Amino acid sequence: MKVTFLGHACFLINGTSNIIIDPFLTGNPMAVTKKEDIQTDYVLVSHGHYDHMGDAVAVAKKCNATAVSVAEIANYLARNGVNAHAMHIGGGHDFGSFKVKLTPAWHGSSLPRDDGTAEYLGNPCGFIVTIDGKVIYHAGDTGLFGDMELIGRLNSIDLALIPIGDNFTMGPQDALEAIKLIKPRVVIPMHYNTWPLIEQDVGKFKEDVQTNTGVTVRILSPGEALDM
Ligand code: NI
Ligand code: MN
Repeated sequence: MKVTFLGHACFLINGTSNIIIDPFLTGNPMAVTKKEDIQTDYVLVSHGHYDHMGDAVAVAKKCNATAVSVAEIANYLARNGVNAHAMHIGGGHDFGSFKVKLTPAWHGSSLPRDDGTAEYLGNPCGFIVTIDGKVIYHAGDTGLFGDMELIGRLNSIDLALIPIGDNFTMGPQDALEAIKLIKPRVVIPMHYNTWPLIEQDVGKFKEDVQTNTGVTVRILSPGEALDM
């Protein structure tokens, strides 16, 4: 199995099934991949913000893929012609070749309408994806929360995808605390350096985490993949 970082919070998992999480390629200054080049069976969307749901409709339609998200986002995607599977936080589902469980995330989930108002698309989430014998936790956009300890205790997480950009999500200090709670084998930092507002010294983060926790941090450039 291969996990490719596509920039910001977007990852493509290529295993028994192909799964893209938070497809934001169009307008993503870090992206090196175009939405037209994505091949996937499933599209997972953590919340309604454009830097996560951005290309979800286009990619899901092009690939005839199934979108998976909280019910409010699944309904929105279905209204836009996407085959969508609605779930909710705390719920898990076995899709046959992989399993997904939705985790809490402390964040927002609004989607701007053309008239300047916003549609609120339920609660944001994270994902625990179990595929090909590996457990991957995509935290979504979130602040640090104590129940990450429960996520770490109930799951043997091989790979955690953790935001470190600060301002909109955890910053590096809180991400270090999150890793102590989640106890993953490997961490890939995400949601940083996309814009000046979320610039971080990722090399220092890696050193801090590895010194304080012994957990391996892999820094991926957009387009780069981790073999698992
Ligand atoms: Ni967001
Ligand atoms: Mn975001």
